[in-house]
Amino acid sequence: MNDQILIIGGTGTTGRSLVELLKSSDANYKVMVRNYAKAAPLQAEGVSTVMGELGDWPVIESILNDIDTVFLLSSPSPTKVEEQNGLIDQAVKAGVRKIVKISAVIADVGSHIHLADWHGTIENHLIASGLDYIILRPHSFMQNMLMHLGSIKGQNSIYESMGTAKIPMIDTRDVAQASFDCLIRNNLNNNTYVITGPEAISYDDVANALSKATGRQINYIPVPSEAHNQGMKTAGLPDWLADDLTFMSKNWGQKEVHQPTSDFKKISRTQQYDIDRFAKDYAGYF
Ligand SMILES: NC(=O)c1ccc[n+]([C@@H]2O[C@H](COP(=O)([O-])OP(=O)(O)OC[C@H]3O[C@@H](n4cnc5c(N)ncnc54)[C@H](OP(=O)(O)O)[C@@H]3O)[C@@H](O)[C@H]2O)c1
Repeated sequence: MNDQILIIGGTGTTGRSLVELLKSSDANYKVMVRNYAKAAPLQAEGVSTVMGELGDWPVIESILNDIDTVFLLSSPSPTKVEEQNGLIDQAVKAGVRKIVKISAVIADVGSHIHLADWHGTIENHLIASGLDYIILRPHSFMQNMLMHLGSIKGQNSIYESMGTAKIPMIDTRDVAQASFDCLIRNNLNNNTYVITGPEAISYDDVANALSKATGRQINYIPVPSEAHNQGMKTAGLPDWLADDLTFMSKNWGQKEVHQPTSDFKKISRTQQYDIDRFAKDYAGYF
């Protein structure tokens, strides 16, 4: 069949929710996975999988043979540009029609934030490829709170360096919903959308929502950028990633309110997840 969708990143946070949406649709799709352990649970759910990894170009070339549309998401990594631009080049060669790429709200070629520069560089390569494209630039994920599990469970505290700034964090289930709509519809093609959650929220708002959902008092403890940076490095984050996250928090912290956009509503009709719903659904983790 030539209208097949290939999902890259389907075993991750956003991708797993996207696969759930695809499973309950009549879309023709398969998920590219990097190892058998991750393929097995998907196969057990009746999901079609194919083994492959970005960078393994001979394998990718054969996978793309019968693919119409690609969903492109991979982890933050210094090899991201090489991997995603390589995929775009292979897609052009294979006659793929369209790519839906998960970028980030910060995307910006030349930025000193690596992730911003990498996403911006890949976006430009995709736009110049001649393929139909949709670029989704999500704001910060609500699911990033899972990175604070240790301090939330151990000390009922979230340590961050964004001051009192409010940002429109988005639930990855909404990123998945927007991705689904972009994959199956064509009237959104050749556009870039900045997708956000429904409201601007501060870390105090997040702490309050988690307190309500767990029945424990959870507090946001604002810390200076340097301490936040050191904490992430001590916890084992690579230096470049800790530095990127510190710069992002610092930049966002300089403006009191970052308003949500209306782009999600241009793509999807579903009710968005707000922070109370996120906290309720994820309370078991915290
Ligand atoms: N966190 C945020 O606040 C935020 C905000 C905006 C945008 N973003 C962007 O969102 C993306 C991350 O989304 P996420 O958190 O949902 O992802 P995630 O949970 O980190 O999952 C990454 C997925 O990509 C797959 N993958 C990674 N490298 C690969 C490779 N070389 N070849 C094939 N598959 C590969 C992973 O496979 P395995 O399961 O095998 O590892 C996994 O399925 C990044 O591009 C990030 O910049 C994040």
